[in-house]
Amino acid sequence: MKPDIINIDGSPLYLDRDLNFLKTFLSSQPYSGVVVLGDENSVRYCLPVIKDILPEGIIVIEFASGESNKNIDTCQEVWRKMLAARVDRKALVLLLGGGVVGDMGGFIASAYKRGLDFIHIPTTLMAMTDSSIGGKTGIDFDGIKNVIGLFSRPKAIFTHLGFLNTLPDKEMWSGFTEIVKHALIADRILFNELKKSVDEARPVVSYEILRQSILVKKTLVERDPFESSVRKALNFGHTVGHAIESCMLKAGTPLTHGEAVVYGMIAETWLSHKTGLILADHLNEVENFLLKICDVKKIIGLDRSQFFDFISNDKKNESGKILFSLLNGIGSFSINKAVNEEGIEDSLNYLLSR
Ligand SMILES: NC(=O)c1ccc[n+]([C@@H]2O[C@H](COP(=O)([O-])OP(=O)(O)OC[C@H]3O[C@@H](n4cnc5c(N)ncnc54)[C@H](O)[C@@H]3O)[C@@H](O)[C@H]2O)c1
Repeated sequence: MKPDIINIDGSPLYLDRDLNFLKTFLSSQPYSGVVVLGDENSVRYCLPVIKDILPEGIIVIEFASGESNKNIDTCQEVWRKMLAARVDRKALVLLLGGGVVGDMGGFIASAYKRGLDFIHIPTTLMAMTDSSIGGKTGIDFDGIKNVIGLFSRPKAIFTHLGFLNTLPDKEMWSGFTEIVKHALIADRILFNELKKSVDEARPVVSYEILRQSILVKKTLVERDPFESSVRKALNFGHTVGHAIESCMLKAGTPLTHGEAVVYGMIAETWLSHKTGLILADHLNEVENFLLKICDVKKIIGLDRSQFFDFISNDKKNESGKILFSLLNGIGSFSINKAVNEEGIEDSLNYLLSR
């Protein structure tokens, strides 16, 4: 049998089918206390699932959900509550929630009294397959996503699929998109497996699918923890995707991150073909799949000049060049591919014509 413990750059990630790993971890740790950070949904739906295995006297600090609360005001609110509850340097912080709780909670814990130990208990598919792995923590600031933060490693990650029972379908599809991305850049067999979900109302995700997806991210972050080379492959779909996400947010018709990345992957798969990296057959195969999990009509009114403003301010750009991570076949990638504005415009036109 394949192991349920995956070592990620020194931190164990447990595929915690019955929550026994978490139970053992909590009962054997010498912490002065336990603080649970979560948003209103993770506290409401997921805290009851682990309540019986938590030690006596835990402190629960809840904040409002959503990206719009991933900011310094929420951090201050939480730090004040931690001080009021006299949380000391020997306490353990449990980050129970999706990517917002994990990113912001990791930052809160790492900055409080020069750093408390924290563990991730991801409760969205996005957090399980992506945000809880790789040590990036942080918050949004002045309208710029994830611009304040630090790399900080969790003590452990406990991944339990049971939390997904209450997750809305829309959020399931959003997380599924990152699994698709992992498959497209590094795992052809996983991509074939994911095709089984396209006609379902809700994607089917097993521990095996999750394991394969996690292994893709693990391999890339371990080879390049600070994103100077191969970790950039994880940006596939994200250059066009982020610009679309930002335009739609500004227009008052926000998309989930995952939805935006699907659009980004369609455009960037086409760019991969146009730059000679993938065959037309592969373009068709990937595009047919992606078009089944999104609706291009939703973004037809996109503001093009805003789109190019966002693209040219992308934090991945270097020396004025717009750099892409593209596919190099299905299950393989190529990084630092410069594409000019005309090429990007063509890819947008292509996407909007689907
Ligand atoms: N650190 C990284 O490497 C990394 C990678 C990818 C994304 N991210 C970040 O992750 C964030 C997005 O994460 P997300 O998609 O998990 O969003 P999220 O944390 O906002 O969660 C989505 C929604 O699901 C709710 N929720 C969470 N668990 C639930 C459950 N089990 N049942 C019912 N509802 C539940 C939340 O309250 C929220 O309303 C973004 O801020 C993004 O920047 C970080």
